[in-house]
Amino acid sequence: MARANENYLKLKAGYLFPEIGRRINEFATANPDAKVIRLGIGDVTRPLSPTVLKAFHAAVDDLGSSENFHGYGPEQGYGFLIDTIIEKSYKPLGVEMKPSEVFISDGSKCDCANILDIFDLSNKVAICDPVYPVYNDTNVMVGRTGQADEKGYYEGIVYLPCTEENGFTPELPNQKVDIIYLCYPNNPTGTVATKDELKKWVDYALANDAVIFFDAAYEAFITEDNIPHSIYEIEGAKRCAIEFRSFSKTAGFTGVRCALTVVPEEVMGKTGAGEPVSFNKLWNRRQSTKFNGVSYPVQRAAAAVYSDEGWKETREIIDYYMENARIIREGLSAAGITCYGGVNSPYIWLKSPEGSSWDFFDKLLQECHVVGTPGSGFGPSGEGYFRLSAFGDRENIETAVSRIKEKWGK
Ligand code: MLT
Repeated sequence: MARANENYLKLKAGYLFPEIGRRINEFATANPDAKVIRLGIGDVTRPLSPTVLKAFHAAVDDLGSSENFHGYGPEQGYGFLIDTIIEKSYKPLGVEMKPSEVFISDGSKCDCANILDIFDLSNKVAICDPVYPVYNDTNVMVGRTGQADEKGYYEGIVYLPCTEENGFTPELPNQKVDIIYLCYPNNPTGTVATKDELKKWVDYALANDAVIFFDAAYEAFITEDNIPHSIYEIEGAKRCAIEFRSFSKTAGFTGVRCALTVVPEEVMGKTGAGEPVSFNKLWNRRQSTKFNGVSYPVQRAAAAVYSDEGWKETREIIDYYMENARIIREGLSAAGITCYGGVNSPYIWLKSPEGSSWDFFDKLLQECHVVGTPGSGFGPSGEGYFRLSAFGDRENIETAVSRIKEKWGK
């Protein structure tokens, strides 16, 4: 028999969101008439913008004519999309970028897992706690860790607690690390980092020859001025940071699939013998070998997000979700529930009004027929917290808030 990768056996039984799905199915089978409102996984509910849809259709039609047919595209993504992203999304921030530094992909979840291919296992990794579980679990899968302790912390990973006391803003690691995962606006706590806070991390990375993996999947949800949308707004970041961005939440592409990863040419690593190595070249090599690019119609649809009409419509959808976030945050806060996030992020991080995170999950499902995500599913420091997603439809959001207020409001 072939030998299995035993690192997988170190993982907790199931990935968080499928476990939530399992509990919902169990409840729905036992209560077929209950109208369950799902504010758990951050999955969008609004349809694609009409302009994006039109471009998508037109590109599908292209495939039906011999003149406009497209077969394999560039593994790194089509120039038309890369140039649009640089021009419309980075230039307005004052960030210059070369097309060879932007890689189009089918998702940030895959990219932030796959990026580990080009980093040696000896690297010390720091991740926040609570955190998007993919960062933690993929490091376990590749074999960078030992077993988890009784709290759920894996041996070999440096955890950076994000708690109410530190405003959910992690302290710099108290030991030297080589890779740091940061996600802003943050999933799951919904908090943001100011330029000064990000500068602290960039300075640390430059001083310690570390690389920052910056997950900016939620940057389009920032509503306040002076909050950085990209880590490259911080001086020096192009020498030490890889950035992940996604069309999933920004433009409703969770099912369509399109994202991008920026690997600046200046981000360098070294071999065991101390020779410099370009991570941009390694990532390009990795993608060319293991990936065949995102489909042509999807990339045309993604480019249309940045057309004048496409962006106007996309912005309206983002505003709709952020109004949902306001309704949740203000509604629950007024009822005496402590809430964080929801101002520059589609996630509201609330203090469980009753019991542990999973106790509250079960009570909320059983008694209010509302689904959220237990904070402890994002890491031990998430215990006692709960995440609600603002990606639902308005009526469901209002109903969920009023059911929670009725049950737990003071
Ligand atoms: C979440 O709910 O945290 C996200 O939807 C997960 C993801 O983007 O993969």
